[in-house]
Amino acid sequence: MFLDKGKNEFKNDVLLGLSDPIQKSIPSKYLYDDVGSELFERITLQPEYYPTRTEILLLDNYSNDLVKDISKEIILIELGSGSSKKTKFLFTEIIKKQNKLYYFPIDISFNFLNSVVSHLQNSVSNVIVKGIPDDYINGINHCNSILFENNFEIKNVCRFIVFLGSSIGNFEIADAIDFLNDVRLQIANDDYLLIGFDLEKDISLLENAYNDKEGVTAKFNLNLLNRINKELGGNFGIDNFSHRSFYNKDKKRIEMHILSNKKQHVFISSLNKQFCFEKDETIHTENSYKYGLKDIDHISEKAGFSIAKEFSDENNWYKLVLLKPK
Ligand code: AVI
Repeated sequence: MFLDKGKNEFKNDVLLGLSDPIQKSIPSKYLYDDVGSELFERITLQPEYYPTRTEILLLDNYSNDLVKDISKEIILIELGSGSSKKTKFLFTEIIKKQNKLYYFPIDISFNFLNSVVSHLQNSVSNVIVKGIPDDYINGINHCNSILFENNFEIKNVCRFIVFLGSSIGNFEIADAIDFLNDVRLQIANDDYLLIGFDLEKDISLLENAYNDKEGVTAKFNLNLLNRINKELGGNFGIDNFSHRSFYNKDKKRIEMHILSNKKQHVFISSLNKQFCFEKDETIHTENSYKYGLKDIDHISEKAGFSIAKEFSDENNWYKLVLLKPK
């Protein structure tokens, strides 16, 4: 039933997005099927994709500073946990403070999450892992129920929610504020939210990060067409489309598009509908916002958080921000 619901949502979003006469688009969450999640992991290893390695450096240097002042037992909840690789720096520091750690990775990619959870269960000690295959807010809700059912008392535990990888950048600014507001409503005053923000920088660095030489980002983007072919009975000829990413300076965001190499028609059988593409027409598949320091203050403030601690790298490319409800 869950799968049907997911499939119907995908179908409706593709229908809506490809029917827009001004700009075709498909929400970026659909980039992450199992193949897409694997490809995204490969993107994070590309030399041009600086966000991951910069964030790892920051977590390596500052995990101790992030958790050292928390006296309650920390429960770690990760939104969009992916491979959970970066979170290990936090595990290490938390385990120095308490003898065991409950870790709830939340991710919508069910199979990917399952394999990461089994790997963690066999490789890290003193960490009790419970994977939550859900979207972020439902996932936090689910964690809250588990804590409640297991008689954890909020006065004794601190929920430390992490949202890494600058995934916040894939939201529109207003949606990011709404989302953080929703997170705040799920947590208590003594809980924390750690967010990774990608900062504004030289345009060529930004554009190279989303156009890696090995072409992994291109595969990741075009995989969306494979997904439509597989799941919705589309007949996209993948070679007739190209990957396109560029920095939109006015909107302070990287835009990712799929570009039609020629005038063509595509039929999607589960929608029983044909879609026309002009040469060079695009499907907008993702935005990745880059922040100035004032933007971070603004978003945090509007969402009802204050900044407890913040750490950036020496180039000022990336920032880890620890938020507390106001
Ligand atoms: C997951 N997200 C933060 C990545 C980003 O940088 O916006 C997704 C991505 N898209 C292309 N490369 C990476």
